[in-house]
Amino acid sequence: MTRKIIRNGHIVTAVDDYFADILIVDGQIDAIGRNLAAGADTTVIDAVGLLVLPGGVDCHTHMDNTFGDSTTCDSFETGTRSAAFGGTTTIVDFAFQRQGVGVLEAIERARTKGAAGACIDYGFHVIVTGVDAQVLADMQHAIRHEGISSFKMFMAYPGSVMVDDAAIFQAMRMVGQHGGMIALHAENGTIIDLLIKEALAQGHTAPKYHALTRPAIMEGEATHRGIKLAELAQAPVYFVHLSAKEALKHVVEARDLGVPVFAETCPHYLFFDDSVYDSDDFDLARYVMSPPLRSKDSQNALWTALRTDDLQLVSTDHCPFCMKEGHLGRVNQKPLGRNDFSKIPNGVPGVETRMATLYDGGVRSGRISLNRFVELTSTTPAKLFGLFPQKGTIAVGSDADIVLFDPGEEHVITAKNQHGNCDFTLFEGKRVTGKVRQVMLRGELIVDSDRWLGEVGGGRFVFRGESGGW
Ligand code: URP
Ligand code: ZN
Ligand code: ZN
Repeated sequence: MTRKIIRNGHIVTAVDDYFADILIVDGQIDAIGRNLAAGADTTVIDAVGLLVLPGGVDCHTHMDNTFGDSTTCDSFETGTRSAAFGGTTTIVDFAFQRQGVGVLEAIERARTKGAAGACIDYGFHVIVTGVDAQVLADMQHAIRHEGISSFKMFMAYPGSVMVDDAAIFQAMRMVGQHGGMIALHAENGTIIDLLIKEALAQGHTAPKYHALTRPAIMEGEATHRGIKLAELAQAPVYFVHLSAKEALKHVVEARDLGVPVFAETCPHYLFFDDSVYDSDDFDLARYVMSPPLRSKDSQNALWTALRTDDLQLVSTDHCPFCMKEGHLGRVNQKPLGRNDFSKIPNGVPGVETRMATLYDGGVRSGRISLNRFVELTSTTPAKLFGLFPQKGTIAVGSDADIVLFDPGEEHVITAKNQHGNCDFTLFEGKRVTGKVRQVMLRGELIVDSDRWLGEVGGGRFVFRGESGGW
């Protein structure tokens, strides 16, 4: 039996804020109280002056995911280690059902990768790119027997991963009856495709045209359509990487009517806006993600929505591609689109910077409370995707996934000091206050300041319960 006590920390959950000790026995929280007795066999960790937070839960990452000709530069190993240094102890990544690969085979492949490389705990959503009777049956099986209760479907990228409205509706109808949830990438793919073709025909090849061909109004249109499909299917729906006020207004309207609509946004939409696209420079490829960065008005609306619970989560959509071709041996990265913006792999890194940037720019700047910070980054992701109360809180019986966070420590974010494979971070040079000091995964110390103490393959697959409930 292993026993540890975290002594005198400032414990913060989505609802609590107090000073106490935490007794951890065999990886689970066993007791919380004042002056807990430590036996000779108990390791004591001093948390005076530190926030004691539940480990972050990031429900949108892409480790070793392939899109078209490009594969994200983080493996399961490097990406999850990087997540740990950033205070995240559980991710929900993606298994990919594509042409010729069934849902269950996709899950098995993803689980094999996870088992070999994961440094923190993990689950998967399945990306579903086609729907037939077998796929629907497999999805149902996945919810009940594989611990996988959420599925991503794309309303964008025709000819690749896009599915039509009928497919989305069928999938929603089925998962709604069985405790699952569809996560939608909501952008109108066929219109965007047309705009891309027109831009290229006019010789517009620079990265900024990525943003100009993906208008906010087409995210709004797809979001509205997705909500109506979910209403008809009587199923909950989740919008990934919501970026635009034109989309947000439909989420707000539906939620006000009591429709079970949920949405995340990502740090890049909270801290950057479309003014960055004001150049023909290829260096702007670093800002190529979908949806693209939006207006300052949208950004302000996202912050408000985080406060008012119109947005429920901050996930990273960590989908890293390097700016330099060949960095750490990775090929087909951002430079693939040097002469054609539509070939730039979409996505940015962020798994290591989520907690520190949101603490600094959200909590310290007075935009969100400390409890809300925990709710957005840990508790609600766990609740919405069937991980709670094993994950997402500090409570007796929960896994001892715990972050000791120094609220006063200043540091400068730089790609050089990050632990993933990507050669850039959008936050390069940003000075922030608040730093992850120590991270425990099921009671084991895996990060101690700059030292990695965890184990490759030490992360466990988490069998999730139903998605879409509260
Ligand atoms: O640009 C993005 N978001 N890349 C990752 C894939 C996705 O759509 O989430
Ligand atoms: Zn997406
Ligand atoms: Zn994504």
